[in-house]
Amino acid sequence: MSLLDDVAEVLIREDELQARVADLGRQISSDYEGKTPLLVGILKGASVFLADLIRQVTIPCMLDFMATSAYGSGTEGSGIVRILKDLDQTIEGRHVLIVDDIIDTGFTMDYLLETLKARYPASLRVCALLDKVTRRRRRVGIDYRGFEIPDKFVVGYGLDYGGIYRNLPFICVLKPEVYT
Ligand code: IMP
Ligand code: MG
Repeated sequence: MSLLDDVAEVLIREDELQARVADLGRQISSDYEGKTPLLVGILKGASVFLADLIRQVTIPCMLDFMATSAYGSGTEGSGIVRILKDLDQTIEGRHVLIVDDIIDTGFTMDYLLETLKARYPASLRVCALLDKVTRRRRRVGIDYRGFEIPDKFVVGYGLDYGGIYRNLPFICVLKPEVYT
C-alpha cells in the first residue's frame, strides 16, 4: 500500500515547491543581511518546509521551535490556541521570523504574534508556505508567502491529515473517501 494511492490531485509539484522555497530563502537572506535572525518553526507542520528553507538562507541564522494546538478537533478550529512547547530562549532584542506551513483562519498566527510581541523582539515577521486566504478570520500580515491556495484541505510537505501524509514531497488533495 502506497500513500500515493490516496492522492486525488497534486496542487503544487515538488519542483514548484523547491523553486519557490529558493526564492523565499534569497529574499530572507537579503532582507536580514547583517543580522542573525531567529527562525521559529511551528511544529510539526512547518518542519519539512523549514528544513528546506534554512538551506536556502545564506546568512547566519538560528533556529528554535514552538508547538501549538487548537482546542477542538477535526479540520475546523475553535479559535482557541494553546502552546504545547515554548521557545528554549528569550527573544528580547532578537529579529524573529515565525515559519509556518499554512495560514488558514489565522487564529494560530494571530495568537503567536501577540504572544511573541509581548516579549520585545527587535522585529517580528511571518513566513508561511501556504495562504488559504478565503478562510481568514483574523487579519495576519504575511511577510514571506509561498503560495496562495484555494479552500481545500491539503496534505504533504509537512502537512498532515490525522498525523499521516507529511512525507509526501508535494502539496495535494486526498481522495474524498480518505477524509471520511
Ligand atoms: P489556523 O489557525 O486556522 O490558521 O490554522 C493553522 C493550522 O491548521 C496550520 O498550522 C495547520 O497545522 C492546520 N491546517 C490548516 N489548514 C490545513 C490544511 O489544509 N491541511 C493541513 N493542515 C491544515
Ligand atoms: Mg501548524
